[in-house]
Amino acid sequence: MLTDTHNRVINYVRLAVTDRCNLRCSYCMPEHMQFLQRKELLSYEEILRLMQLLSAQGINKVRITGGEPFLRKDLLHLLEQLVQMPGIDRVSITTNGVLTRSFIPALLDLGIRHINLSLDTLQRDKFKRITYRDEFNAVMDTLQALLAHNMSVKINTVVMDGVNTDELLDFAALTKDHPVSVRFIEEMPFNGHGKAFSGIKWNFEHILDTLRTAYPLQKLPDAPHTTALNYHITGHQGHIGVIPAYSRTFCGSCNRIRVTPTGGLKTCLYGKDDLNVRDLIRGGAPDDFLLQRIQDAIHHRFLNGFEAEEANEKMASMSTIGG
Ligand code: GTP
Ligand code: 5AD
Ligand code: SF4
Repeated sequence: MLTDTHNRVINYVRLAVTDRCNLRCSYCMPEHMQFLQRKELLSYEEILRLMQLLSAQGINKVRITGGEPFLRKDLLHLLEQLVQMPGIDRVSITTNGVLTRSFIPALLDLGIRHINLSLDTLQRDKFKRITYRDEFNAVMDTLQALLAHNMSVKINTVVMDGVNTDELLDFAALTKDHPVSVRFIEEMPFNGHGKAFSGIKWNFEHILDTLRTAYPLQKLPDAPHTTALNYHITGHQGHIGVIPAYSRTFCGSCNRIRVTPTGGLKTCLYGKDDLNVRDLIRGGAPDDFLLQRIQDAIHHRFLNGFEAEEANEKMASMSTIGG
């Protein structure tokens, strides 16, 4: 079992399989990104070796992130191996939806039915302003197709002051006729622009107060280790979630680690890489040594993102971390 000194058990890994993206969301990366070379990425072979070690230690949930995961060549091959791996109960994906639609039948064949879809506006023009790409229709087609195939869909909406704060109620209205979870996320400082981030105006309380102007929100019980505060509106099929990603009220029950596209192991989203798995593997590290290093990093991890933030001089782009 992987545990830390704060008695938190780690059973969830977020695997960022690429830093590339076909959108340029301003809160995530600058327009001109220097992307990694293929050889810098953790190969599928290396990912699977790592995952075998981790699953033997009780990791049972894997989320595939990026960049945009469907840009990585042969992603289905990796997914197939992960789904079949002993100990892994759930493989889920966070995607921007641009390319996702055509993969739905193959995902269902593999038994993958949990998709988190990033979508920050319901307006085509605004989508282009936020993402610098005109892909709104492709994403909406994906959303429709996911719902038509009865997949479990969570929409991730990053709340940006003055950009989409006029649409919170429109997003909430989506839960009326569709069994989706719409999750409003506090904006975090990982935009890769190197600009100072001066806190946020739209914290989770402000978001909830705004929603309550139109809807009575019934709080749902907190699932263990959830990042989201979840609510239901009477008569609606779906749910509303608010993720205090900047306020970080959920650190005490944090059960996750991250692996970056280059094999960095992050025991906290806000911290530096704790070690590099790729370099250890390519340096010939045997399994027991690799596992020992991972266990040590996890054991000594920070209690919360605030401590980790102090240890991290510079906030990277979210696309190099995986969200
Ligand atoms: P579920 O497994 O469906 O609950 O997904 P998730 O919330 O773990 O993952 P998702 O990729 O959908 O992330 C939603 C938002 O929560 C993103 O903005 C993430 O960066 C943020 N988030 C996820 N995990 C953490 C975390 O450990 N700390 C912080 N601060 N934010 C997180
Ligand atoms: N703040 C909050 N959420 C972010 N995401 C990407 N960058 C940020 C940021 N700066 C979200 C994406 C995606 C998830 C993995 O992380 O919207 O849904
Ligand atoms: Fe875990 Fe760090 Fe996120 Fe807190 S901020 S929940 S410690 S990853």
